[in-house]
Amino acid sequence: MNNPLFKELMEEIFERPSLIQEVFKTFKKRPTTFRLNSHFHDPLQIINSLKNQGFKVEKHPMSEFAYILRNRSKKELMETQEYLESKIYLQSLASQAPVITLKPKKGTAVLDLTAAPGSKTSQIANLMKKQGKLIAIEINQPRFFKLQHNMKAQGFDDPEFLKLELTSGVKFCKDTDLKFDYILLDAPCSAESRFDFKEPKTYRFWSQQKVKENQSKQKKLLKGAFEVLKENGTLVYSTCTMNLKENELQITEFLKSHPNAKLKEIQIAGLKKHNLSQDLIQEYDMPHDINKCFRLMPDNNVEGFFVAKIIKT
Ligand SMILES: C[S@@+](CC[C@H](N)C(=O)[O-])C[C@H]1O[C@@H](n2cnc3c(N)ncnc32)[C@H](O)[C@@H]1O
Repeated sequence: MNNPLFKELMEEIFERPSLIQEVFKTFKKRPTTFRLNSHFHDPLQIINSLKNQGFKVEKHPMSEFAYILRNRSKKELMETQEYLESKIYLQSLASQAPVITLKPKKGTAVLDLTAAPGSKTSQIANLMKKQGKLIAIEINQPRFFKLQHNMKAQGFDDPEFLKLELTSGVKFCKDTDLKFDYILLDAPCSAESRFDFKEPKTYRFWSQQKVKENQSKQKKLLKGAFEVLKENGTLVYSTCTMNLKENELQITEFLKSHPNAKLKEIQIAGLKKHNLSQDLIQEYDMPHDINKCFRLMPDNNVEGFFVAKIIKT
């Protein structure tokens, strides 16, 4: 690692140089991964068909629907009927973790508060098997159109089951009379786990100010989401960033102002969780159980991610 600007940025983000070596592991090429769209299609048939076409695919332990491509290119996979007919959806493994954690049940009311382009909305829809009610919100119009397109392409366009709304999540939560059993807040964030030191465009726009702006957005969205969560309901908060401010410190502040919010332990098969040290927890006055959150450190198959699971008591 000999890019001084990038090194400085990493030290700024992580505050602890010891973490940086872990994070540098992020910056390697990872295999293509995908998720099976299991509701409309038979998973076994999809996998057998790909194997018959010479694709070597390996199931990841995190989910029966998460797969890693072990030979051939992403482009070749994208030329298959399975891809063209949306039987499979390209999605990183880390990005599948929040919905695996949320685990929405069939027949319930589910809210995806910051939804586009819909990777996780469609993952939720598959798990719900079109039973219950799923509402997905997105504030950005071009991204909202992508969400619409993606959901339709995967077969989810039944208004009885799915409602997509182009609006602010904060406004939605303020105006709605509905309450939800499960809420996903896959928050807007500074996306630090997608930085690549070989490609300055991935981190050129990062700044302390941007982190602050994200923190403020996340705080409002979290507050709104919790208000529309039913008692005993589950809220999952996730980001694809690595700094403490948008992750554990955001959750710390939220828990301090919401005494009826409790963290739940997260375990995801096959993924390596990073626990914060007791020194760090004490230094920032975080709750003693903050390590119930899942800080996913990168490895050969996954990038970094942060997931917190909160129950309303
Ligand atoms: C991390 S992305 C979500 C990715 C999505 N969950 C997926 O897996 O495909 C965050 C999204 O939140 C949207 N967003 C930002 N502020 C918002 C707000 N106040 N209300 C609703 N959506 C918002 C952004 O436009 C962006 O599309």
